[in-house]
Amino acid sequence: MGLIRSVVLIVQQVILLNAISAVKATAAVAYQANSSCQSRCGEVSIPYPFGTGGDCNVSKHFFITCNTSFTPSKAFLTTSSIEILDISLNGQLRILADGSYDCYNNSGATRNFTYWLQLGKFFINNTRNKFTAIGCDTYARVEGFSGQRYATGCLSLCNNINDVSNGSCSGIGCCQTSIPKGVKSYNITIESYENHTDVLPENPCSYAFVAENDNYTFSTSDLRGFDFKDKLFPVTLDWTIGKTSCKEAKMDTKSFACKKNSKCIDSEHNSGYICKCFEGYEGNPYLPNGCQDINECVTMSPCNGTATCINLNGTYDCLCPPDYKGDGKKNGTGCSLPNKDQSKRSLLIDVALGIGVGFLGILLGIVLLCWMLKQRQISKLKRVNFQQNGGILLREQLSKRQGYREEVKLFTVEELEKATNNYHESRILGQGGQGTVYKGILADNRIVAIKKSIIGDPSQVERFINEIMVLYQINHRNVVKLLGCCLETQVPLLVYEYITNGTLFHHLHDDDAALDLLWETRLRIATETAEALSYLHSAVSIPIIHRDIKLANILLDNNYNAKVSDFGASRLIPSDEAQITTIVQGTFGYLDPEYMHTSLLTEKSDVYSFGVVLMELLTGQKVVCFKRPEEKRVLAMYFVSLMKEDNLLDILDPRVLTDKNVEQLKEVAALASRCVRMKREERPTMKEVAHELAGLQAMPKHPWSKSKLQGEESEYLLGDMCSTYTDGATSSSMGYDSINNKITFELEGAR
Ligand SMILES: *[C@@H]1O[C@H](CO)[C@@H](O)[C@H](O)[C@H]1NC(C)=O
Ligand SMILES: *[C@@H]1O[C@H](CO)[C@@H](O)[C@H](O)[C@H]1NC(C)=O
Ligand SMILES: *[C@@H]1O[C@H](CO)[C@@H](O)[C@H](O)[C@H]1NC(C)=O
Ligand SMILES: *[C@@H]1O[C@H](CO)[C@@H](O)[C@H](O)[C@H]1NC(C)=O
Ligand SMILES: *[C@@H]1O[C@H](CO)[C@@H](O)[C@H](O)[C@H]1NC(C)=O
Ligand SMILES: *[C@@H]1O[C@H](CO)[C@@H](O)[C@H](O)[C@H]1NC(C)=O
Ligand SMILES: *[C@@H]1O[C@H](CO)[C@@H](O)[C@H](O)[C@H]1NC(C)=O
Ligand SMILES: *[C@@H]1O[C@H](CO)[C@@H](O)[C@H](O)[C@H]1NC(C)=O
Ligand SMILES: *[C@@H]1O[C@H](CO)[C@@H](O)[C@H](O)[C@H]1NC(C)=O
Ligand SMILES: *[C@@H]1O[C@H](CO)[C@@H](O)[C@H](O)[C@H]1NC(C)=O
Ligand SMILES: *[C@@H]1O[C@H](CO)[C@@H](O)[C@H](O)[C@H]1NC(C)=O
Ligand SMILES: *[C@@H]1O[C@H](CO)[C@@H](O)[C@H](O)[C@H]1NC(C)=O
Repeated sequence: MGLIRSVVLIVQQVILLNAISAVKATAAVAYQANSSCQSRCGEVSIPYPFGTGGDCNVSKHFFITCNTSFTPSKAFLTTSSIEILDISLNGQLRILADGSYDCYNNSGATRNFTYWLQLGKFFINNTRNKFTAIGCDTYARVEGFSGQRYATGCLSLCNNINDVSNGSCSGIGCCQTSIPKGVKSYNITIESYENHTDVLPENPCSYAFVAENDNYTFSTSDLRGFDFKDKLFPVTLDWTIGKTSCKEAKMDTKSFACKKNSKCIDSEHNSGYICKCFEGYEGNPYLPNGCQDINECVTMSPCNGTATCINLNGTYDCLCPPDYKGDGKKNGTGCSLPNKDQSKRSLLIDVALGIGVGFLGILLGIVLLCWMLKQRQISKLKRVNFQQNGGILLREQLSKRQGYREEVKLFTVEELEKATNNYHESRILGQGGQGTVYKGILADNRIVAIKKSIIGDPSQVERFINEIMVLYQINHRNVVKLLGCCLETQVPLLVYEYITNGTLFHHLHDDDAALDLLWETRLRIATETAEALSYLHSAVSIPIIHRDIKLANILLDNNYNAKVSDFGASRLIPSDEAQITTIVQGTFGYLDPEYMHTSLLTEKSDVYSFGVVLMELLTGQKVVCFKRPEEKRVLAMYFVSLMKEDNLLDILDPRVLTDKNVEQLKEVAALASRCVRMKREERPTMKEVAHELAGLQAMPKHPWSKSKLQGEESEYLLGDMCSTYTDGATSSSMGYDSINNKITFELEGAR
């Protein structure tokens, strides 16, 4: 035991050392567009999109003039005289602004000044700044433009300087008011009623200015004289990129400013957007690779002393040493030995021990016996489960087929409980009709996905064994790898490699997807999926039909490589039969109509489903959408009918359609419609499809004559409602099993 502990400790230290060196390696992440850009001006740091010229600033509005004739140097906004105090990547900027004044003596007005501020692109933040006026005979106005003209102001009067109290700006000696939202310019004018004649000499001047809320505190001495000559006040501005919302900006992938691992946030000013690194990342979201993973293990040391901290992309995890229970987090349950004996020897126990040694011996014997019986029961239960779960069958099957790939590992219950932190909610990756998928971290720090089916459904067992048998034979880079399984539980568990980037469905249809998929990426994913299916259909010694090809079953890894998953419904087709009869199973909208009618399954059913996937990639629309009129609800039919009428451009996804690739899109559309032909014989084989897609990928892009693209915009109305980039219609999917046939519906939030 001691040896194990020290090994664990050493491993822990090695991991910590690695973590520290990783942080050192990423500490020099740049905040500028390139290394020759100026990173500071005096005390102001200049992160991209701001810069001092050339490609260092994203546009002319983000240009900074650095005047070195001051010590230290001073930064100014564009070419104006507005001095910058501070630039923050959270979308704010602090500048220095002046105020207005108006002074009198016994013979009348002596001097006055009217300050105005004009900003080209940025906004004065209405919650962080306030307008303040000081004086005993003062009426001050702030006015300008915020889309339309606005004017606001306040009045400050006092007869006797003794009425005035420090810190209070309620209209006696000092008044304050807020400024409207969306203000880009203002000027401040001051007027008096009596030329200060009644309040001289205590209050010769009126002052008014805009400043950050907490920067100015009123003091009665300011009425007598205010050193206004060099007095400047800090003002917080909001900056945004562009003038459009995130949704519109995302469509133009070239100019979209939010880079990898960042999200886009609409400005509250309804003009432009800002970017923010995902939770768990830090850096400059406007630069490629600007958002870097935070090594929480080093920055927070979130784990309990005995636990090992593992840094993951965007998050972290704590691993308790073997035998310990708990989540390992300082804030959580920590790590503890399950039945740690903390009883203290007391005199009483000593006495009791002395008297009852024999008695205790007997008791101990009984306890031991009970324990042994319990253990036997548990292991018997495990054996029964193993048998019920087809463990025997599996072993037989596995022993029959040798030499495909390394043995599927049989995991124990304890290993997987530990890996998933007892199937903790926080580890759930996804939930569906078939069961729940958890994220697990194995003892060797490998990250895996663990699928646990719904309890008490014996038909699931068969599906699971089926999936194990299918996946066991496959070794293809575009098919998710099965690492092993656990058959000791009531419901068997499957262990897969962990695919980091979620489903294709998420990337195409969910509003919160990080980035729109480029057409090139979509085509590559389609090609890879087609290759995987072609391999399943023909290359493997016994052909496999997937039976449930859909976006939700295509996973994406870090580099957006496709990984086909979910083989629960798949079937092996013995080589002497070209088709087999089965219960109809699949997802509505993707399901081969001929299969639905005849129950005869052939590999052409997968071709049909794949054709529908291609259509989704081309159009960005959902497979079934009840917001479309009846005859257009099912994408495959709608798509084919538009092709027939030669109106294809109406439905192609405007996020990817350009006049450069329209030719390529049309070719893919033609292929997709061949895949969904009613007669199976007319559909191409998966091999042909994969071949054709690979050819298209290499095809040079001919510019398409502009005239053909015209008229597209007016026609979107229909399609818009079911594509995901327009409004926030959230989608929900729903599992549905009809009485005999297992058909899943994935519905667009039908409410
Ligand atoms: C950095 O930007 C400057 C100014 O735009 C440009 O001249 C230079 O080539 C860039 N350097 C690199 C390494 O990109
Ligand atoms: C940066 O600002 C300068 C000065 O306004 C401008 O000439 C330049 O074009 C800007 N850079 C970009 C990429 O727009
Ligand atoms: C820098 O500031 C000085 C003093 O205000 C001014 O005379 C000079 O023109 C400024 N230089 C630039 C490049 O703006
Ligand atoms: C009032 O101010 C003006 C201009 O500053 C000055 O010429 C005048 O002498 C002042 N009068 C008094 C009574 O101080
Ligand atoms: C401000 O001063 C100028 C002369 O310096 C004068 O003409 C003008 O009337 C004054 N404005 C106010 C509001 O007193
Ligand atoms: C202040 O701004 C308002 C609105 O833009 C304008 O009508 C007014 O003339 C300006 N006043 C001064 C003194 O510039
Ligand atoms: C205030 O001073 C202005 C000139 O500076 C004069 O025209 C006006 O009559 C004065 N008002 C009062 C109430 O003294
Ligand atoms: C107000 O802002 C100025 C300029 O940044 C700063 O020098 C001053 O200390 C601030 N005052 C308060 C009370 O925060
Ligand atoms: C103003 O600043 C606050 C605090 O920084 C921020 O939460 C708010 O969104 C800003 N207002 C606008 C309209 O951007
Ligand atoms: C623990 O929780 C508290 C409050 O929930 C939080 O402020 C603190 O940062 C957390 N500490 C760690 C190490 O997560
Ligand atoms: C984290 O991201 C990097 C680069 O994006 C990738 O190479 C690495 O495999 C990822 N690690 C995990 C655990 O997902
Ligand atoms: C680790 O967790 C245990 C059990 O929760 C707790 O008693 C111990 O104080 C924790 N140690 C640290 C360093 O947080």
